[in-house]
Amino acid sequence: MQQLQALRKVEKFKLRKEVPRTMASKKQDREARIEDLPGIGAATAEKLRLAGFDNLMSIAVATPGEIIDAAGITEATARKAIRAARDNLEMGFQSGIDLMKKREGIEKISTGSKNFDTLLAGGVETGAITECFGPYGSGKTQIAHLLAVQTIAKDPEAVAVYIDTENTFRPNRIKQFAEAISVDPEKVLQNIKVARAFNSDHQMLLAEKAEELIKQGLKVKLIVVDSLTAHFRAEFVGRGTLAERQQKLNKHMHTLSKLADMHNLAVYVTNQVMAKPDMFFGDPTEAIGGHIVAHNSTYRIYLRRGKKGTRVAKLVDAPDLADDECIFKITEKGIEDA
Ligand code: GTP
Ligand code: MG
Repeated sequence: MQQLQALRKVEKFKLRKEVPRTMASKKQDREARIEDLPGIGAATAEKLRLAGFDNLMSIAVATPGEIIDAAGITEATARKAIRAARDNLEMGFQSGIDLMKKREGIEKISTGSKNFDTLLAGGVETGAITECFGPYGSGKTQIAHLLAVQTIAKDPEAVAVYIDTENTFRPNRIKQFAEAISVDPEKVLQNIKVARAFNSDHQMLLAEKAEELIKQGLKVKLIVVDSLTAHFRAEFVGRGTLAERQQKLNKHMHTLSKLADMHNLAVYVTNQVMAKPDMFFGDPTEAIGGHIVAHNSTYRIYLRRGKKGTRVAKLVDAPDLADDECIFKITEKGIEDA
């Protein structure tokens, strides 16, 4: 038994030792390459890389199914590789202190409105998914534009990735918002990478491609998906397709959540509402996407029209903030407290 344990230790050590010494950071210094995983030869590693699994972390957080699809290996091999990747990265439990340190690295992106920022304890958080849901014209897209401008205003090197599913990205609005806070509109537009998603599969692919931009060296600090659910809703109609839709949405949100966590960037998604036919009292609408979207969003904000052209934002779900609401106005310059 002891011998076996000793042997395992040696194996693990070997795995770590074969690391190229050129890697920069201390953390990376201990990381093995994917070829070093058990059962993964050069050809399999190449297949994995082509499918986007090009580091141990991406394999450690993948499901066996994803690895099997990408590399065409057996389930046993996939499981072994995932386990080895996890062991190598020392995943699992972290101490409270480690987590506290991680949280210290979290940044907030301002919305430009004092009330809105107060609602979110400073703004939209990096490392998390923030979802705004509400009826048409409630301001979800306007906030997406604003966040993109604010991200770059805060850090001129920052890049905002904007996945536009409804063709509602307007460079002119970006220009107006940037000018209102005296930031060079051209610089801001330069640092926003917009992609139009034509269907749900395309949308999912674009979220995965965002990682490529990061690998190219772009400092992506915000990913917008506007709208998160519209394509899914339009493509999967009828009861029989609901399970598949939810599964795909779940996968998509996992991709976004991983990106947020691994690269300390903010994800902002928008979501529509639908009428609840069986609701006679209280709010007759509910967000699309059900529990899958609700559970995968870290912060959820319900937007609606208020009196005299105002908008009401209500924080309905947040891990560490009280449920509260604020009133704001959409203007030429951005959003203002009302
Ligand atoms: P859907 O995508 O249709 O679900 O709506 P949404 O929630 O994304 O709405 P959006 O953010 O596009 O808000 C549209 C509203 O913003 C409009 O009805 C206007 O009231 C307001 N708005 C848009 N552009 C301007 C502008 O240039 N000036 C002012 N004052 N308001 C604007
Ligand atoms: Mg919109």
